[in-house]
Order: sequence, then C-alpha cells, then structure tokens
Amino acid sequence: MLLSPGTKKELKIEAQGLAFGYGAAPVQHDVSFAVAAGSIFAIMGGSGCGKSTLMKTMIGLLRPSAGTVQIRGEDYWAATDERRDEIGRRSGVLFQAGALWSSMSIADNVALPMRMFTDLDDAAIDRLVRIKLDLVGLDADGSVMPSDLSGGMRKRVGLARALALDPDIIFLDEPSAGLDPISARRLDDLILDLRDGFGTTVVMVSHELPSLFAICDDGIFLDADTHTPIAHGSPSELREKCRDPTVHAFMNRENPATDAPPGNPPGDPNGGSPKARDGARR
Ligand SMILES: Nc1ncnc2c1ncn2[C@@H]1O[C@H](COP(=O)(O)OP(=O)(O)OP(=O)(O)O)[C@@H](O)[C@H]1O
Ligand SMILES: [Mg+2]
Repeated sequence: MLLSPGTKKELKIEAQGLAFGYGAAPVQHDVSFAVAAGSIFAIMGGSGCGKSTLMKTMIGLLRPSAGTVQIRGEDYWAATDERRDEIGRRSGVLFQAGALWSSMSIADNVALPMRMFTDLDDAAIDRLVRIKLDLVGLDADGSVMPSDLSGGMRKRVGLARALALDPDIIFLDEPSAGLDPISARRLDDLILDLRDGFGTTVVMVSHELPSLFAICDDGIFLDADTHTPIAHGSPSELREKCRDPTVHAFMNRENPATDAPPGNPPGDPNGGSPKARDGARR
C-alpha cells in the first residue's frame, strides 16, 4: 500500500534513520519506513541481512544505536520502562522458531500472557484460550502438548498466543517457513482475516514468495551487502518495477526464465523503465 501524497492514513509504526546490530558495525543503518494501520507490511531480504534484528528493535529486545521507532505515535525507545511494557502488551509476537514452551500444553502456552499480564481468573482465562484457539482454526484439545502437533498447527498455537492480549499490532517472523503449501496458504488466509476482520496491523518477516505476493500491502527490502534498505513497496510492486539486481533476483527466484532488465545499474533500487513500470516483465 503506497501512501500517495495527500492521503492521510493513520500510521501504527514509523521508523526514522534506524541503525542496529550487535557490535561496532551495524547490521543495518539508515532504515526508515512507515506502517499504515490495518496493513500487512513485509520485511524482506536475504538470509542474515537483519530482518529478525529489525523486528527486535520494534518489540523491545534490542535498542537501536541510532534513530527512532514510533509505535502508535509514541517514541518507543525514549519511553520509560513502564510505558514500553504497556506498548509491548498491546503488541503480539510470533517468533521465527515458534518458541512454544515444550513442557506446557497448548492451552497453557496461550494462557501464559494472560496469566502474566492480566488479573483474570482461571475460568475466564480458560474461556479466552478456547476463543483464541478457535480463532486460529484449532479445534485440538487444549491439553495436548506442542510435540503432538504438526508444524502448521504449532504455528497456529504460536499465533493464538500472539493474539492472547488482543493486540492491534502483531509481529510475525517467518510464519509460514517450513509449512507445506496448503498449511502456508491457510495461515495466509488467517492473517488476512485478522487484518480484514479486526483491523490488525501486521508486520511480517518472510522469504516465502507466495505469501508475500498474496497478502502483503507494503514492505521494505534490506540488503546484506550495503547494510541498508534498497527498496520500499509492496512485494508485487518490487517484483514488477524494481530494477535493483538483488531485489530482482529475490523477487523472481522461482521464475528463472525472467531475466534481469538490461542495463540494470546497481544501486538503482526504485528505478525502472516505463516498460518495467507497466509490469511488462511479468
Ligand atoms: N544475538 C546475536 N549476536 C550477534 N550477532 C547476531 C545475533 N543475532 C543475529 N546476529 C547476526 O546479525 C545478522 C542479522 O541476523 P538476523 O537474524 O537479523 O538476520 P535475518 O535476516 O533474520 O536472517 P534469516 O533470514 O536467516 O532469519 C547476521 O549476520 C547474524 O549472524
Ligand atoms: Mg530471521
């Protein structure tokens, strides 16, 4: 979803000039983007470029070395610890590896944030857990253990847990990685339902081209070589218009017959001949 000039859209997240990493050299720098309310925003790029690390700067796990992240209009890293906790409670996270507690039943996994952050009694939590599991299409008995479920079902439990506190923003790191195409498609549909039914804003890290093209409205592409974003736009727009060879190769990697456009200058991320802009390379 490109925000055309004059369009006033509520922004849920705004990053300005972010730099972040684990040592002296940043993993990424000069990262700026805006996530519109009720949109699905993709963080794209090759392995190791810093997608999960960028997500960490938005969920409170890693303080950026420069720049700001505004969440719902509030400067997240300038806020007090209490405010940051409150902002975080209104966001849900599905981590890359699922990160369910293997020694807890799926119901207890989903109940955990409710037990930690609300005063609800056990009966109310049980009811809410059932609602969340229904919402993600899981009619499994809540007492089963994560290891008893398929990969797709475990992802759904992770999503149910991310939704436990009714967040208006959810962060999903590779939600459909490792799933068969049908389970991945179902998960995509579920994410669309969350956006369309509840107006949830979704920030999603993904390598999976079918998911990216099917559900994402907007996004950013991080480059591992230059350590900066090299393209902004929806995955379909990037596939059709972006002339940067790295982006082109990523967005077309399951379509090897499609060659990079001729005369493709490196470092010309958002350019594109009129032909390319018309989507003639599809
Ligand atoms: N805890 C850490 N300490 C030090 N370096 C790390 C840590 N986590 C990640 N890195 C390094 O930071 C860089 C970015 O890692 P990150 O996990 O954000 O990449 P990614 O784009 O999510 O990759 P993938 O697609 O494989 O999940 C990599 O070079 C990685 O090795
Ligand atoms: Mg990652």
